[in-house]
Amino acid sequence: MAFPDQRPRRLRRTPALRDLVAETSLAPGQLILPLFIEEGLSGRRPIEAMPGVDRVGLDELGREAEVAAALGLGGLLLFGIPERKDLKGTGAYDDRGIVQQAIGELKRAVPELLVMADVCLCEYTSHGHCGVLDGSEVDNDASLPLIARTAKSLAQAGADIVAPSDMMDGRVAAIRHDLDKAGLTQTPIASYAVKYASAFYGPFRDAADSTPAFGDRRGYQMDPRNADEALREAQTDLQEGADMLIVKPALPYLDILHRVKTATAVPTMAYHVSGEYSMIKAAAYAGFLDEQTAVLETLTGLRRGGADAIITYHAKDAAAWLLAQTR
Ligand code: PBG
Repeated sequence: MAFPDQRPRRLRRTPALRDLVAETSLAPGQLILPLFIEEGLSGRRPIEAMPGVDRVGLDELGREAEVAAALGLGGLLLFGIPERKDLKGTGAYDDRGIVQQAIGELKRAVPELLVMADVCLCEYTSHGHCGVLDGSEVDNDASLPLIARTAKSLAQAGADIVAPSDMMDGRVAAIRHDLDKAGLTQTPIASYAVKYASAFYGPFRDAADSTPAFGDRRGYQMDPRNADEALREAQTDLQEGADMLIVKPALPYLDILHRVKTATAVPTMAYHVSGEYSMIKAAAYAGFLDEQTAVLETLTGLRRGGADAIITYHAKDAAAWLLAQTR
């Protein structure tokens, strides 16, 4: 059968018809909002490269939790900006560290709100790399105990999920082992299994104050030219005990997201990163595109591409728009 018997436009004619045959859904509960918590800050401090995103102090967290819950967000993803940094990133695994304290504040305000904690050393090391150094290289095996200790400390503070983003080999196994030894057998690991060395992290490094003091992260993050390698990273992390996978960045890696989801069939998240956020914001400010439509189309595209959930700085705006649409 072909035209004129076939007329795909028939099902596009009205909103009711379009809704009936829509293949992809987008809901606030699928969105996770990253939060930057700065030690010693009271109130909020805007992040220049990410209009609309602020660093927040501990005193703001009760309110953040309530807003996130009222919007029905899937959860929060926490990053800390410590007052002091050192060679070994001690602040990351300090049981009184900034994120450990933040988890307490959030859980006191809204106990049922899902709290994910990013696990990495880069915000806490004086050199800004994601592990400890051996000369000018990041020492994989020496970093593992510190990363595992960080995950354990965050889980003990009450994190519902730990999310290692450091890209050291073997870190999921190291984390699983330390969590289990501490009796935290029920804490899931959402592994940034597939994390590319990307220019789109630029604004984040400003936001989290984690720009490497020398060199770059290409010795541990993935090469954008590789796709098969993403499947290998995903398989490795699953074998080591990961419960969920994160693919990052999102839009330039939609093919990767789709392949990872299809190959593994495990819960998969896309991280729509800082640079992707700032691009849309900049274009919207310049009047080059409509922000709401562009954001919802982007997030829908990520869902269609295989994301069960999406980590995005647009989470609050997008949730508010989605709620307004269903009203
Ligand atoms: C920490 C980490 C980074 C991001 C998430 N976790 C920065 C990096 O690897 O340089 C980037 C998030 C974003 O750009 O929004 N390792």
